Amino acid sequence: MARKNILVIYYSRSGNTRKVAEEIAQSLHCDIEEIRSRVSYPQNFWGYQRALLHASFKKKPEIQMVQSLLEDYDLVIIGSPVWGGALSAPIRSFLDRNKDELRNVAFFLTQGGEFGRKKVFTQMKELCLKTPLTTFAVTERDVRSGKFKKQIAEFIASLNIERSEATTEVPRSIEL
Ligand SMILES: Cc1cc2nc3c(=O)[nH]c(=O)nc-3n(C[C@H](O)[C@H](O)[C@H](O)COP(=O)(O)O)c2cc1C
Repeated sequence: MARKNILVIYYSRSGNTRKVAEEIAQSLHCDIEEIRSRVSYPQNFWGYQRALLHASFKKKPEIQMVQSLLEDYDLVIIGSPVWGGALSAPIRSFLDRNKDELRNVAFFLTQGGEFGRKKVFTQMKELCLKTPLTTFAVTERDVRSGKFKKQIAEFIASLNIERSEATTEVPRSIEL
């Protein structure tokens, strides 16, 4: 991929997806925006239950308007946590509302385990009616240990962006 205008956009309830999003944006020197839900999912028992229910029943909660002009970006990298083996509800809202403004997309997920990621990527793909350039999923444990940085380097390499744009070391075998 030649030099591109890239945006990382994400939702995070408890910080993992934010951490990964920030690392990707820092590596790519690109813009970043957090999706803010008008329906709250607090970090307590009821917040968890609401998140689980909304993801399972494919709810589309009201979200704040996105500030970025999505159509100006060649690539939008979209990140979400996995909730109950499904896409988080705020990212469902974002994709549903903004699909027409998205040109190229790439997806990433953070999750507790490894189960269900394929299904969630399919949900994202179906919602935005686009096949992602690449996808990437990282476990909570790898976010905490810092192991996710290596996965980000691989993710960025798979995007095939010109070397001058990315600061993260990428494997030499990949032609940029
Ligand atoms: C309501 C809820 C349901 C979850 N369900 C799953 C799940 O089905 N599979 C999984 O691997 N992780 C699951 N998790 C764990 C989150 O995906 C994981 O903690 C994620 O990194 C949270 O991202 P965040 O910190 O950006 O909000 C769930 C978390 C919540 C709050």
